[in-house]
Amino acid sequence: MSQEMRVQDNAEVAGTSFTMRVALLALRLMCLAWLWPVTQLNSSSFPNKRRHKELYLGENTKQKHAGRVEIKKMDSTKSLLIKSEQLLRIEDHDFAMRPGFGGAALPVGIDVQVESIDSISEVNMDFTMTLYLRHYWQDDRLAFPSSNNKSRTFDARLVKKIWVPDVFFVHSKRSFIHDTTMENIMLRVYPDGNILYSVRITVTALCSMDFSSFPLDTQNCSLELESCWYNRLYINFILRRHIFFFMLQTYFPTMLMVMLSWVSFWIDRRAVPARVSLGITTVLTMSTIITGVSASMPQVSYVKAVDIYLWASFLFVFLSVIEYAAVNYFTTVEEMKRLKNAKIPTFNATQAMAFDGCFHDNDIDLTSFPEAASTPNTERNTQSRNSTNSAPTEGTRLRRKNPLKENLSFIMSNSYMIDSYSRVIFPLAYLLFNIIYWSMYA
Ligand SMILES: *[C@@H]1O[C@H](CO)[C@@H](O)[C@H](O)[C@H]1NC(C)=O
Ligand SMILES: *[C@@H]1O[C@H](CO)[C@@H](O)[C@H](O)[C@H]1NC(C)=O
Repeated sequence: MSQEMRVQDNAEVAGTSFTMRVALLALRLMCLAWLWPVTQLNSSSFPNKRRHKELYLGENTKQKHAGRVEIKKMDSTKSLLIKSEQLLRIEDHDFAMRPGFGGAALPVGIDVQVESIDSISEVNMDFTMTLYLRHYWQDDRLAFPSSNNKSRTFDARLVKKIWVPDVFFVHSKRSFIHDTTMENIMLRVYPDGNILYSVRITVTALCSMDFSSFPLDTQNCSLELESCWYNRLYINFILRRHIFFFMLQTYFPTMLMVMLSWVSFWIDRRAVPARVSLGITTVLTMSTIITGVSASMPQVSYVKAVDIYLWASFLFVFLSVIEYAAVNYFTTVEEMKRLKNAKIPTFNATQAMAFDGCFHDNDIDLTSFPEAASTPNTERNTQSRNSTNSAPTEGTRLRRKNPLKENLSFIMSNSYMIDSYSRVIFPLAYLLFNIIYWSMYA
């Protein structure tokens, strides 16, 4: 095209003067330089012209001009929406009715994919989970002709125009369909009218929990789906608690507090402030632990496993305080007795000092206690030999009457022995309690 023009130009300018010819040539050249890209574009675009194929159904809307592709695309999307509704014949049917209304029940398949269990609340007795709820059913009204048997996928806008199953969660406190960035709804329609309807939901549902073996419990929570056909679908979730957190948070400190209360038995019985403050501190700490645990639990009318442990431990701590009260009382009684019988001449010096309280319990252990602990009767005799003459007859009389009573009265009259026995009895009893407790619940 440009070469033709140049030939014509040369023929025209043959008869004109040289200067004119030069000026015109320059002008023509400028014109040519400007024209060149334009002609290039035109000549190149024609052979490469694309046949823009309509995406949908391939009917009668072939694109003629490449320059208008963008605009045409927008148009075609718009026409698709109209076509989808026309294709599915949305306007032709009353979608307020279920498919096959008046006839047999419509089978609706449901499946649930749990995305996450977000929280489980003991206090509110509920659990929250996010799940995909999918429904499958067939609606012949939405069947459409198709050459390749491929499904169509739509979003929430079409869902509002057609019939969908009225499934709801029984015992749900709150539930919502996620709507960021769009409503998390998907509708897939197959050419034969089969439909998949998928929704992403977060639901908080009630779960009546049984805490009788808390925190060593297993909860059976069920998510229930129902529709106005009155069929109910149960999905049972078996939730087993990890005990480690409660071991660390509750059981371990409780054990330490009980053990701390035993320290009192090893402190001199005359150290009243030390033993009383230790006892009170452990009792207060125990009550703090109990309060903390019950605050995070629902107020149920039955006893929980953790309550049994806490209250039994509390009892141990409490008894250790009472033990000291007993030790202190009997020590005072002994001293009163000793003051009364102060005139007795043949009193052993060591024992007198022990009753007086100048010796520590350990010193007494060295002299008289081991014998007393093993065979109280012989000790009694030994002691009686050292004391007055009337004592042996009394001792034998007591032994004949009731050995237990005799032992008890002996312990009472030697209050340091209460501590000595407690050092063994308390840990053993607590150990026994732990063995029974953990074999019962674990
Ligand atoms: C179309 O596809 C569906 C599922 O994808 C299948 O069940 C059905 O048989 C197919 N129909 C034909 C005619 O191929
Ligand atoms: C959980 O509870 C349901 C009824 O609510 C019951 O059918 C199911 O057997 C229970 N599962 C277990 C493991 O106890």
